[in-house]
Amino acid sequence: MNGNQTLTMIKPIAVERNYVGPIIQKITDAGFIIRAMKLLQLSKNQAGDFYGEHRGKYFYEDLTTFMSSGPIVAMILEKENAVADFRKLIGATDPVEAEEGTIRKLYAESKSHNAVHGSDSDESAKRESDFFFSAVERF
Ligand code: PPS
Repeated sequence: MNGNQTLTMIKPIAVERNYVGPIIQKITDAGFIIRAMKLLQLSKNQAGDFYGEHRGKYFYEDLTTFMSSGPIVAMILEKENAVADFRKLIGATDPVEAEEGTIRKLYAESKSHNAVHGSDSDESAKRESDFFFSAVERF
C-alpha cells in the first residue's frame, strides 16, 4: 500500500436495492481504479472484527447485525489521495449532512444504513484491504 489506495464496502441495503452498478459508475467517473473486488456475506463475527474499533459503542450490535445481514461488495480503489478523495465523494456519515451529489446523499437511507463505507486513514485502508483480499486477489 502506497497511500494511494482505500477500501470501500457497498453495504447490504445498497446491494439489495440494486445500487451496485450506479455506485461503481460514480466511483470510476471520479477517477478511481478498481484494484480488487468481491461480492460476499460477512458473518456476524467477521463484521465485529472489521468494526473492532467501535466495540463497546452503543451502535456496535446494530452495526454488526446490519453488516452481516446480506451480501456486500468490497473493493480496493486506487487514486492519488485516495482516502480523502473517496470520503469526499461519498459524503458525511449521516446522509442528512452529506453534500448534494455525493454517494451517500444519493443512495443512503440513514446514518446506519449509509450505502457505503470508506477507510478513514491510510492505516485503516491497509488493515481493511488485508482483511478482505489476499495477495493474488489484488492488482
Ligand atoms: S464514531 O463513533 O463517530 O466513530 O462513529 P461514526 O463515524 O458516526 O460511525 C461509524 C460507523 O458506524 C455506523 N453507525 C451505526 N450503525 C448502526 N447504528 C447506528 N446508530 C450507527 N451510528 C453509526 C456508521 O454507519 C459508520 O459506518 P461506516 O461503515 O464507517 O460508514
